[in-house]
Amino acid sequence: MNQRVGIEALSVAVPRRYLALEDLARARTVDPAKFTVGLGLREMAVAGPGEDTVTLAATAGERLLSAYGIELSRIGMLVVGTETGVDHSKAVASYVQGLLGLPKSMRTFDTQHACYGGTAALMAASDWIGSGHADGRAALVICSDIARYGIGTPGEPTQGGGAVAMLVSDRPELLALDRGVSGVYSTDIHDFWRPIGQREARVDGHYSIDCYLDAVAGAYRMWLERATRAGLVPANGLASDALARIAYHVPFCKMARKAHAQLRRVELEGQPGHPASVDEAASVVEERAAAASFEAQVAPSLLVPSRVGNTYTASLYFALASLLHADANALAGKRIGLFSYGSGCTSEFFSGVVGDHASAAIERAGIRDVLEQRQRIDVAQYERIMTMPPDTQPMNELRGPFAFRGFEDQRRRYRRLAAV
Ligand code: CAA
Repeated sequence: MNQRVGIEALSVAVPRRYLALEDLARARTVDPAKFTVGLGLREMAVAGPGEDTVTLAATAGERLLSAYGIELSRIGMLVVGTETGVDHSKAVASYVQGLLGLPKSMRTFDTQHACYGGTAALMAASDWIGSGHADGRAALVICSDIARYGIGTPGEPTQGGGAVAMLVSDRPELLALDRGVSGVYSTDIHDFWRPIGQREARVDGHYSIDCYLDAVAGAYRMWLERATRAGLVPANGLASDALARIAYHVPFCKMARKAHAQLRRVELEGQPGHPASVDEAASVVEERAAAASFEAQVAPSLLVPSRVGNTYTASLYFALASLLHADANALAGKRIGLFSYGSGCTSEFFSGVVGDHASAAIERAGIRDVLEQRQRIDVAQYERIMTMPPDTQPMNELRGPFAFRGFEDQRRRYRRLAAV
């Protein structure tokens, strides 16, 4: 249990195109402030022909291996967290293993539970390393998804897509996980789902927000109790003050603000002079303190998510990437909290300590360049892409590093186009 395990390296991949949400709002005759302030979003990634969960995952993985100079022989496990895979049976991980030329002497599999699938992958990898079965090897964990709700739906502005690759090992340069101190909360509900054969998700939007908030409360309460017992947070005072930052699952950025307010309400439950229930405590929360705490503890994690939109399994890890990109210097040696939510639902609050050299390590991910290399499209182009049949192949616009190139004998084929 004492072994240090966590994230050694991280890189991201996003679709080549994005839509500005102000443009979408105007086209839908909605006040742009509803999307930019009300939902907290600026841009939405749009996956085009040739781009899918596999190409995004492979791009993020390739970028990690090359930017951090990782020898392939170090990798003994590849786990892909996704809820938008490309086949009911064949794992995205198998395609990625082939495209990256990873060793054969390794485990490969996908993990699925809505947006929690990436965290399931991270936990499986960290348990494998912590158990000693990894025998010094590392796991490549990739979270990759494309979020689609459909044109004109309430969920439309909360679409997006992207992938985050993480090398999980016993050299946690970026984040050493507090293993065994997670808080979890799960229940059987229908807040968000996607029936077999449907490309667009079904969602009970406002109910899904309430479900997420219930999950934050449940998972955080359990983490709090275990973290206090483990001595990670003081027995008196606000435990979240012992967390330098908190990264949340970000279906849209305003959700993180709501989640943070909920977390503070939970903390106040046990404080002297405050009533015991969350609902009653809510009425006495000091609004200004909550807003200041949000700006200091959460806002830096939202810079990247506000520019790619919802990425389902990858969303929490884009928030982590954003946080490290913005603040890694100040966070060296400090503990941060992370909250993962998967509709349906399951959730986990966990924590970790940022590495002393995390700032230099995250620089290698080149996050700013990845975002700047994208092309802005207009609403007509976005709608054209959205109405293309599934698995439309790229025409004259093949650009690297990987693209779906159609079916051969009913088998999906991909092409490597260029270096990352
Ligand atoms: N200026 C500023 N703010 C404005 C505004 C304006 N002109 N007009 C509206 N707003 C604000 C509203 O007050 C509201 O803010 P609050 O929630 O803080 O009150 C916000 O903008 C959104 O307005 P509505 O609630 O009226 O928006 P809506 O009903 O059209 O849809 C939504 C919002 C339900 C989130 C919808 O986008 C949706 O269904 N999204 C997909 C579901 C989702 O993301 N759920 C999150 C939890 S589930 C999860 O996390 C798993 C996952 O990844 C899917």
